[in-house]
Amino acid sequence: VIDLVSMGIKLQGGILTLLDQQLLPGEERWIECRSLETMTGAIKALKVRGAPAIGIAAVLFLASKTLEGARRDDLMAMSVALRESRPTAVNLMNYLDRIDRLLAEPGESWGNRLCSEAQSIFQEDVALCESIARNGVALFPQRVQVLTHCNTGGLATAGRGTALGVITKAHEEGREIHVWVDETRPLLQGTRLTAWELGKTRIPYTLICDNAAGMLMRAGRVDCVLVGADRIAMNGDFANKIGTYSLAVLARHHNIPFYVAAPETTLDVHCPSGAAIPIEERRAEEVRGIPGHPGQAASGVPASSGAAPVFNPAFDVTPAALVTGWIFDTGVRRAGDWN
Ligand code: MRU
Repeated sequence: VIDLVSMGIKLQGGILTLLDQQLLPGEERWIECRSLETMTGAIKALKVRGAPAIGIAAVLFLASKTLEGARRDDLMAMSVALRESRPTAVNLMNYLDRIDRLLAEPGESWGNRLCSEAQSIFQEDVALCESIARNGVALFPQRVQVLTHCNTGGLATAGRGTALGVITKAHEEGREIHVWVDETRPLLQGTRLTAWELGKTRIPYTLICDNAAGMLMRAGRVDCVLVGADRIAMNGDFANKIGTYSLAVLARHHNIPFYVAAPETTLDVHCPSGAAIPIEERRAEEVRGIPGHPGQAASGVPASSGAAPVFNPAFDVTPAALVTGWIFDTGVRRAGDWN
């Protein structure tokens, strides 16, 4: 019997359900993912999002289909479609590789093995998050003001999160921590999701517009920047939510430590440098309006012409040279540790 529950993903009674992250924090609605179309649609629409969570949801979906009696060929085809649903976060590809290897093995016991592999992937991620948190907290002084971007918490993983997991662990261990939460345009993962998670744990935070980071750093009110990653190349360059690179440049200018926290499942062994990381471009409407109000500003007035040309990359690449340290589950890497 498989029974797996995280903040945003459940596999219970053979059915995968996801907390619709696009509706948060206004509404907490769980959606059943019984068809491939619903599952890939949920990934594309960011109902499930965050690099580890995307991959975990995809493999649990394949486990649910296996429990339902799906044929091996059909599962292989589903795996291809899932792989194509979002291009940048490499955890999806890394986890599907593990499932595809089992599907390709001869013999008839693949179904059980697939289900236990999916279960291991979920449980491993919980443990990876704990290790990241332990390694990250060791870097923090007793009093610290951290700036973070996007959402890297329980919603984005099976466990306590990556960058946000370090923050919640530091709070639990008695550090006096205050978090500057970037709103994270265009889809407001900071405003909607990180603020929601921090509110639940009662960690002091303040929401800021993305473009307030520079003035806060200049005023000496940021001690470190801590972000997650969607894909880390073998030279330490990494892709993360659009705006991360700007934060790294600002941090360097103001001599503020800049850390990235991620499990080793976010490493891409096929990617020699950031230049090889595929960057997802998303719909113009996301930039023309705000979430929940397509084409409208918060006041309800049109935010921009429905025909305004838009460039909407979902991620950017931060070069390794701007990173103070990479907080992995295996330990903290420094610039000299990449060869
Ligand atoms: O487009 P999203 O919301 O999936 O982007 C998520 C991020 O950029 C996160 O920082 C990253 O996936 C790390 S989550 C632990």
